[in-house]
Amino acid sequence: MKTDIVYCGDCLDVLKKLPDSCVDLVYIDPPFGSNRDQVVRGREKRRFSDRFEDVTAYLKYMKPRLLQLYRVLKPTGSFYYHCDWHASHYVKVMLDGEDLFGYKNFQNEIVWCYKSGGASPGRRFSRKHDIILFYTKSEDYTFNGMKEKSYNRDFKAYRFKGVDEYRDEAGWYTLVGMKDYWEIKMVGRTSRERLDYPTQKPLALLERIISVSSNEGDLVLDAFCGSGTTLAAAQRLGRRWIGIDTSPEACRLASRRLAHFQRADGRCEHGD
Ligand SMILES: C[S@@+](CC[C@H](N)C(=O)[O-])C[C@H]1O[C@@H](n2cnc3c(N)ncnc32)[C@H](O)[C@@H]1O
Repeated sequence: MKTDIVYCGDCLDVLKKLPDSCVDLVYIDPPFGSNRDQVVRGREKRRFSDRFEDVTAYLKYMKPRLLQLYRVLKPTGSFYYHCDWHASHYVKVMLDGEDLFGYKNFQNEIVWCYKSGGASPGRRFSRKHDIILFYTKSEDYTFNGMKEKSYNRDFKAYRFKGVDEYRDEAGWYTLVGMKDYWEIKMVGRTSRERLDYPTQKPLALLERIISVSSNEGDLVLDAFCGSGTTLAAAQRLGRRWIGIDTSPEACRLASRRLAHFQRADGRCEHGD
């Protein structure tokens, strides 16, 4: 099986050609069911459609693709589904099903919080987070837990026995297990990593997921890879990767992005 490759085609067809239980980590960021076309102004060719008749049609579209993703994931593998308020609750119910991951293998609902342009119409709160549903295939999975800073109240040291405390310009803090809400900057207009691909995700987000849920040499799969953020993060972290996208524009962009890392094999191929 080839790795470090971008396949251009519907992931349903491409996934059917992959063997069972070959992937360590799947991250997907498919269309969210937002009922609009996603496009960056001036980059019409990079448009992708996120239009479904209704949420039932969206779930019906995703289900066979999810069954394939489940099949190719190793029994020790992890799965992340990036979505938002449009369908996250329906998607969770689907993933909780016994023909997919099952309720008991749900690990986290990660909330990715960001600042972005555009405000609410003043009649509700601004919608500034996405949801990432994290499942594993069993209880035996990789989790390289991360720590984050937790600032002490009142800007002073607690001096609890056995607890290490540190200080920086923002005050005293301890190191605690990372929480399930992540504040990571989105790829803004002036961001250096911006490739003008609609809904491009930040490398920092993918690097976190890949670092936690895989080890060096593991195989990471993104079946809706767009501009190739997951693939670039995987390569930076010494993982093998496979990317799939229906859009030839996205495949070309992702391949170019990976070639930029000077891998001779960051190439674009059609399905078979
Ligand atoms: C939200 S974008 C992914 C963005 C990506 N995470 C990034 O950082 O650039 C969703 C992608 O899914 C692709 N897509 C939609 N349906 C697909 C399918 N059935 N198989 C493979 N890719 C698909 C679209 O072309 C689009 O590039």
